[in-house]
Amino acid sequence: MTNYELVSQQLKALTDGVPYEVANLANASALLWQEMKDINWVGFYKMMDGCLVLGPFQGKTACIQIPVGRGVCGTAVAEDKVQLVYDVHQFPGHIACDCASNSEIVLPIHVDGKIWGVLDIDSPNIGRFTEEDKAGLLQVVEVLESIL
Ligand code: SME
Repeated sequence: MTNYELVSQQLKALTDGVPYEVANLANASALLWQEMKDINWVGFYKMMDGCLVLGPFQGKTACIQIPVGRGVCGTAVAEDKVQLVYDVHQFPGHIACDCASNSEIVLPIHVDGKIWGVLDIDSPNIGRFTEEDKAGLLQVVEVLESIL
Protein backbone atom coordinates (compact mmCIF):
# COMPACT_ATOMS: atom_id res chain seq x y z
CA MET A 1 0.00 0.00 0.00
CA THR A 2 1.32 3.41 -0.96
CA ASN A 3 2.20 5.76 1.93
CA TYR A 4 0.05 8.67 0.70
CA GLU A 5 0.98 10.82 3.69
CA LEU A 6 4.62 10.59 2.61
CA VAL A 7 3.72 11.16 -1.06
CA SER A 8 1.78 14.29 -0.09
CA GLN A 9 4.79 15.59 1.88
CA GLN A 10 7.13 14.81 -1.03
CA LEU A 11 4.80 16.59 -3.44
CA LYS A 12 4.71 19.66 -1.19
CA ALA A 13 8.52 19.70 -1.07
CA LEU A 14 8.87 19.15 -4.83
CA THR A 15 6.50 21.97 -5.73
CA ASP A 16 7.48 24.42 -3.00
CA GLY A 17 8.07 27.83 -4.59
CA VAL A 18 7.70 26.49 -8.14
CA PRO A 19 5.31 28.74 -10.10
CA TYR A 20 5.17 26.53 -13.23
CA GLU A 21 2.01 24.42 -13.62
CA VAL A 22 3.41 22.03 -16.23
CA ALA A 23 6.56 21.37 -14.17
CA ASN A 24 4.54 20.70 -11.01
CA LEU A 25 2.09 18.38 -12.73
CA ALA A 26 4.91 16.54 -14.53
CA ASN A 27 6.66 15.91 -11.21
CA ALA A 28 3.37 14.96 -9.52
CA SER A 29 2.66 12.31 -12.18
CA ALA A 30 6.26 11.01 -11.97
CA LEU A 31 6.06 10.83 -8.15
CA LEU A 32 2.82 8.82 -8.23
CA TRP A 33 4.27 6.59 -10.98
CA GLN A 34 7.28 5.85 -8.74
CA GLU A 35 5.30 5.29 -5.56
CA MET A 36 2.25 3.30 -6.71
CA LYS A 37 2.38 -0.39 -7.57
CA ASP A 38 0.47 -2.06 -10.42
CA ILE A 39 -0.45 1.01 -12.43
CA ASN A 40 0.01 1.52 -16.18
CA TRP A 41 -1.05 5.18 -16.54
CA VAL A 42 -1.17 8.23 -14.27
CA GLY A 43 -1.75 11.79 -15.28
CA PHE A 44 -3.90 14.84 -15.66
CA TYR A 45 -6.66 16.15 -17.87
CA LYS A 46 -7.36 19.89 -17.63
CA MET A 47 -10.62 21.66 -18.47
CA MET A 48 -9.94 23.86 -21.49
CA ASP A 49 -12.60 25.35 -23.79
CA GLY A 50 -15.30 23.29 -22.06
CA CYS A 51 -13.53 19.98 -22.63
CA LEU A 52 -10.91 17.85 -20.82
CA VAL A 53 -7.50 18.14 -22.49
CA LEU A 54 -4.53 15.83 -21.89
CA GLY A 55 -1.89 17.17 -19.48
CA PRO A 56 1.37 15.81 -18.04
CA PHE A 57 1.34 12.03 -17.53
CA GLN A 58 3.33 8.79 -17.30
CA GLY A 59 2.38 5.78 -19.40
CA LYS A 60 1.40 5.15 -23.00
CA THR A 61 0.17 7.88 -25.32
CA ALA A 62 -3.44 8.81 -24.56
CA CYS A 63 -6.47 10.48 -26.13
CA ILE A 64 -6.12 14.27 -26.24
CA GLN A 65 -9.68 15.51 -25.66
CA ILE A 66 -12.51 14.03 -23.58
CA PRO A 67 -15.93 15.73 -23.60
CA VAL A 68 -17.62 16.33 -20.22
CA GLY A 69 -19.92 13.35 -19.54
CA ARG A 70 -17.89 10.93 -21.69
CA GLY A 71 -15.83 8.06 -20.27
CA VAL A 72 -14.67 7.77 -16.68
CA CYS A 73 -12.91 11.17 -16.72
CA GLY A 74 -15.84 13.03 -18.27
CA THR A 75 -18.23 11.39 -15.80
CA ALA A 76 -16.04 12.50 -12.85
CA VAL A 77 -16.45 16.09 -14.09
CA ALA A 78 -20.16 15.84 -14.95
CA GLU A 79 -20.97 14.39 -11.51
CA ASP A 80 -18.17 16.25 -9.68
CA LYS A 81 -17.45 12.98 -7.95
CA VAL A 82 -14.54 10.55 -7.58
CA GLN A 83 -14.98 7.55 -9.90
CA LEU A 84 -13.58 4.34 -8.42
CA VAL A 85 -14.03 1.76 -11.17
CA TYR A 86 -13.51 -1.90 -10.23
CA ASP A 87 -13.66 -3.13 -13.86
CA VAL A 88 -13.51 -0.58 -16.67
CA HIS A 89 -15.10 -3.05 -19.10
CA GLN A 90 -18.30 -2.76 -17.07
CA PHE A 91 -18.26 1.06 -17.16
CA PRO A 92 -20.61 2.38 -19.89
CA GLY A 93 -18.66 4.57 -22.33
CA HIS A 94 -15.22 3.85 -20.87
CA ILE A 95 -12.53 5.21 -23.22
CA ALA A 96 -9.76 2.64 -23.71
CA CYS A 97 -6.47 4.51 -24.26
CA ASP A 98 -4.28 1.56 -23.21
CA CYS A 99 -5.98 -1.79 -23.74
CA ALA A 100 -4.00 -3.13 -20.75
CA SER A 101 -6.17 -1.05 -18.37
CA ASN A 102 -8.69 -3.00 -16.31
CA SER A 103 -9.47 -0.70 -13.38
CA GLU A 104 -9.31 3.05 -12.90
CA ILE A 105 -9.70 5.87 -10.40
CA VAL A 106 -10.46 9.47 -11.41
CA LEU A 107 -10.50 12.35 -8.92
CA PRO A 108 -11.82 15.84 -9.73
CA ILE A 109 -9.43 18.71 -8.90
CA HIS A 110 -10.95 22.05 -7.87
CA VAL A 111 -9.48 25.54 -8.09
CA ASP A 112 -11.39 28.69 -7.06
CA GLY A 113 -14.54 26.63 -6.47
CA LYS A 114 -14.58 25.26 -10.02
CA ILE A 115 -13.39 21.98 -11.53
CA TRP A 116 -9.87 22.58 -12.83
CA GLY A 117 -9.57 19.05 -14.25
CA VAL A 118 -8.92 15.50 -13.06
CA LEU A 119 -6.23 13.15 -11.81
CA ASP A 120 -6.63 9.83 -13.68
CA ILE A 121 -4.89 6.55 -12.72
CA ASP A 122 -5.25 3.21 -14.56
CA SER A 123 -4.23 -0.29 -13.54
CA PRO A 124 -3.87 -3.55 -15.44
CA ASN A 125 -5.38 -5.31 -12.37
CA ILE A 126 -9.14 -5.59 -11.88
CA GLY A 127 -10.15 -3.97 -8.56
CA ARG A 128 -6.71 -2.37 -8.02
CA PHE A 129 -8.07 0.78 -6.32
CA THR A 130 -9.66 0.70 -2.84
CA GLU A 131 -11.35 3.19 -0.54
CA GLU A 132 -7.91 3.57 1.15
CA ASP A 133 -6.39 4.63 -2.19
CA LYS A 134 -9.28 7.06 -2.68
CA ALA A 135 -8.73 8.61 0.78
CA GLY A 136 -4.95 8.82 0.24
CA LEU A 137 -5.26 10.26 -3.26
CA LEU A 138 -7.71 12.89 -1.98
CA GLN A 139 -4.86 14.09 0.27
CA VAL A 140 -2.60 14.32 -2.79
CA VAL A 141 -5.32 16.22 -4.69
CA GLU A 142 -5.54 18.66 -1.76
CA VAL A 143 -1.84 19.47 -2.19
CA LEU A 144 -2.37 19.95 -5.93
CA GLU A 145 -5.34 22.24 -5.32
CA SER A 146 -3.16 24.41 -3.08
CA ILE A 147 -0.51 24.92 -5.80
CA LEU A 148 -2.61 25.21 -8.97
N1 SME B 1 -10.09 5.73 -19.52
C1 SME B 1 -10.33 7.15 -19.49
C2 SME B 1 -9.63 7.84 -20.64
C3 SME B 1 -8.27 8.34 -20.32
S1 SME B 1 -7.12 7.13 -20.28
O1 SME B 1 -7.44 6.16 -19.21
C4 SME B 1 -5.63 7.74 -20.02
C5 SME B 1 -11.82 7.44 -19.52
O2 SME B 1 -12.64 6.54 -19.79
O3 SME B 1 -12.17 8.58 -19.29
